[in-house]
Amino acid sequence: MSPSPTSLPLQPALDWLGHHQADLVERLRDYVRIPSVSAQPAHAQDVHRCAEWIAGRFRSAGLSTVVHPTRTNPIVVARTPKVEGAPTFLVYGHYDVQPPEPFDLWTTPPFDPQVRGDDLFGRGSSDNKGQHLAHLHAAEACLASGVGLPCNLVFLVEGEEEVGSSALQEFLPLHRNELACDAVVVSDNGIPDLEHPALTYALRGIAALEVRIDGPSKDLHSGLFGGTVENPAMALCRLLAQMRDETGRVTVPGFYDDVVELSAYERAQLARLPTSPADYLALTGSPALFGEPGHTPEEQRTARPTFEINGLTSGYQGEGSKTIIPAWASAKLTLRLVANQDPGRVIAAVKAHLERSCPSTVRITVHHGHGAVPYLMSPDGPMAAAALAALQEGYGHPGLLMREGGSIPIVSAFQRHLGADTLLLGMALPDDNAHSPNEKFNLRSYASGMRMAVHLWPRLAAAARVANPGRFGRHQPAGGAGSAA
Ligand code: BES
Ligand code: ZN
Repeated sequence: MSPSPTSLPLQPALDWLGHHQADLVERLRDYVRIPSVSAQPAHAQDVHRCAEWIAGRFRSAGLSTVVHPTRTNPIVVARTPKVEGAPTFLVYGHYDVQPPEPFDLWTTPPFDPQVRGDDLFGRGSSDNKGQHLAHLHAAEACLASGVGLPCNLVFLVEGEEEVGSSALQEFLPLHRNELACDAVVVSDNGIPDLEHPALTYALRGIAALEVRIDGPSKDLHSGLFGGTVENPAMALCRLLAQMRDETGRVTVPGFYDDVVELSAYERAQLARLPTSPADYLALTGSPALFGEPGHTPEEQRTARPTFEINGLTSGYQGEGSKTIIPAWASAKLTLRLVANQDPGRVIAAVKAHLERSCPSTVRITVHHGHGAVPYLMSPDGPMAAAALAALQEGYGHPGLLMREGGSIPIVSAFQRHLGADTLLLGMALPDDNAHSPNEKFNLRSYASGMRMAVHLWPRLAAAARVANPGRFGRHQPAGGAGSAA
């Protein structure tokens, strides 16, 4: 690997992180103690307190910080001291967390964070407090140690990612000038393990729908009426069953028309990831794997679209039996999408297909829900190369390329409103229990992630200068404007 492309000697910043490691863990414990659950109105005060807490950390680190009120949860924007003529990078994270329930499945309480072995347990430790706090600390280390930063960093930390980011979706176009940047960095995702750090260059999008089938005007005696009128639950099952074939391929006409296929380069890179089919069996507990032939599980889960039933409701669910023809049946559906599928077009096509396929013996209503555009950036450009080198430096192992099957809706909004690509540099591990009981964050990944971020900024700044020759002034020497002086 090439040496760091800058004269900035980074060692003092790395030493600062090493000396302060115990304090940095305590700070994460303080952050996780705040129960900033965005889904639960009872925690509204905690959510606001959490925004103020992280704003306070940014201010102590020397960043000029504004807490923007919104109709819902505050958005925190913090900027490092201005470095004239240098590239600017936006670092995004979210201070809100998922609900902690069910409490009885936690070994220690979700908001009383405890260290056991290499892990810090607590709701939000991995998703996402630990990951963006690592970026804050890396910037603090650069400023406090006198190393300085070769670029401008703008931190954007919101409080409702777990409930749809609606305030930020409005905020972004209104603040596009102050958030203008050369690239976005997001650590709100994962890597296979500590020996295989990775840059995620694609996320799946999503399209959500709800379908309801109505039949008789009330539940009927299935002996007296069975065989004379259609059963809505049966009609819904038939309708949904024919939405995909036995390998999972979606049967909606035109569904695959816009799908960008994996290149040979990408397939070779994904094959370097350590996760095997046996790992997917172990991770899921399923008796067998399933999916489109000709693709590995890693490709299936990240580079191919899906159609899933998330919830299915009809008829009698209580104890014992009840002989009825239910009056209605309903299902919650989501499709995960890949570049270049458009959520709006997919929702319209699926709705039309369901309506067309529905027998006239029942009535169908399809409601459309939320959507997110899939995300894909070039995995072989200079920005990606810079990120891969920083991963090697932070984790001590070569950086790999991966895609992710989950969705972070705001990432495609960054592309749309700011014209900037997002480098996804996750620090979470597959067993972090995000959204589950006993969520935890690996403290070795925390430390490696902080070192990675220290190495990232000089490399990314150099890559931005290569990508946009003539846009920036002469390179600032170490300790110049922008250092913590
Ligand atoms: N941080 C996750 C998404 C994620 C996890 C991306 C792991 C990549 C790797 C985020 O908090 C999340 O859960 N997103 C939702 C979004 C959806 C509700 C629109 C998802 O993917 O289900
Ligand atoms: Zn989440």
